[in-house]
Amino acid sequence: MGDGMSLDALTDTVLARCEALASCSEAPDRLTRRFLCPAMRSAHELLASWMRDAGLGVRVDAVGNLIGRRDGQTDRIVAVGSHIDTVPNAGRYDGVLGVLLGIAAMDALRGITFRRTADVIAFAEEEGVRFGVPYLGSRAVVGRLGPAELALTDADGISVARAIEGFGLDPSATARAAYPPGQPEAYLEAHIEQGPVLDESGLGLGIVTSIVGQTRLSLAWLGRSGHAGTEPMRHRRDALAGAAEFIAAVERLAQADPELRATVGNLVVTPNAPNVVPGDVRLSLDVRHPVDEVRRQAVDQLRTWARDIAGRRRLTVRVDPIAESAAVACDAGLTDRLAAAVAAEGLTGVRLSSGAGHDAAVLAERCPVALLFIRSPGGLSHHPDEAVRREDVRAALSVMIRFLRLELDRE
Ligand code: HGY
Ligand code: MN
Ligand code: MN
Repeated sequence: MGDGMSLDALTDTVLARCEALASCSEAPDRLTRRFLCPAMRSAHELLASWMRDAGLGVRVDAVGNLIGRRDGQTDRIVAVGSHIDTVPNAGRYDGVLGVLLGIAAMDALRGITFRRTADVIAFAEEEGVRFGVPYLGSRAVVGRLGPAELALTDADGISVARAIEGFGLDPSATARAAYPPGQPEAYLEAHIEQGPVLDESGLGLGIVTSIVGQTRLSLAWLGRSGHAGTEPMRHRRDALAGAAEFIAAVERLAQADPELRATVGNLVVTPNAPNVVPGDVRLSLDVRHPVDEVRRQAVDQLRTWARDIAGRRRLTVRVDPIAESAAVACDAGLTDRLAAAVAAEGLTGVRLSSGAGHDAAVLAERCPVALLFIRSPGGLSHHPDEAVRREDVRAALSVMIRFLRLELDRE
């Protein structure tokens, strides 16, 4: 350990900082911190001060990613990080734990000048909650944030470009947020598993082999509003009844394949009045599977069913693609070295696939990535009761310190 704190003290600091960040929220009674909202600024202030305390030079890029850098002997870069935006009513570990572990690892390695430069990245947007499209932060660093993304609008009609301006940044400079070609040379992300595998296996750490692909769609179900008391059932073109039949079909399809996940998470009913037959329903659809071809076939099947249901009910349905990301393999060599660090710490880690998306899936376009999972007790996440075990966080930190010490000095 450098001349910093002990592993136990660093672990307790990481957990305390998760609590402190949980107060940086858009809502007084729950944790919600969407991309470039005012609460993101107070999160930046805390994280920037912790990065500086760990001896890192701090900057904010044009899309709001916060980056702490430890210069090495060369400008070859190893990045470690995760995201600091959250879903609505979130848990306090999803994303931020990986950023705080990266800062703590650099604190533990303080005073050592490595061959490679270290970047600890707090991505400003991964969840895709505010603008519907995920990974805007990591897309910026791999050079994939362009005019189409800047033109996306949120529920209030504010574009990404305007949100960037509102945060005091320059949307015309987003291209400069991209790393130069060939950089970073490696990316490590630590993240809670958000599922039941580690908890059911009785293990605290997981080494991720791949990240499932995902398709995000938006469906518009259009019928005709009518009077709830006078319009006979046989005359109705009830958009919500049609959407409900579709949602049940989505669940049925996913239940037929243990590796398929399909979710309708967002539903907007218009005019949304108790005495009006709904004429317009918008819903989101999130489909995931480890095998891309299987995911695509599931999406095609759901498109067909949507058309059939709409036809039978004299509705129209429009299916709009929102985002798609292919399944991503974590780098075998880097992942083996991560597994070796786990073993060298006298710990056991199980290899598993990730059903959740992560910034590592985007960085994998640029460089080898490795993803370290930390047990989620009860498999719970995207929920305020999301938890971690202190011993697992301590174990993850010891592994990351060992792993980064080697990677940062790698030829
Ligand atoms: O949706 C996901 O898988 C991640 O939490 N963004
Ligand atoms: Mn999440
Ligand atoms: Mn996450």
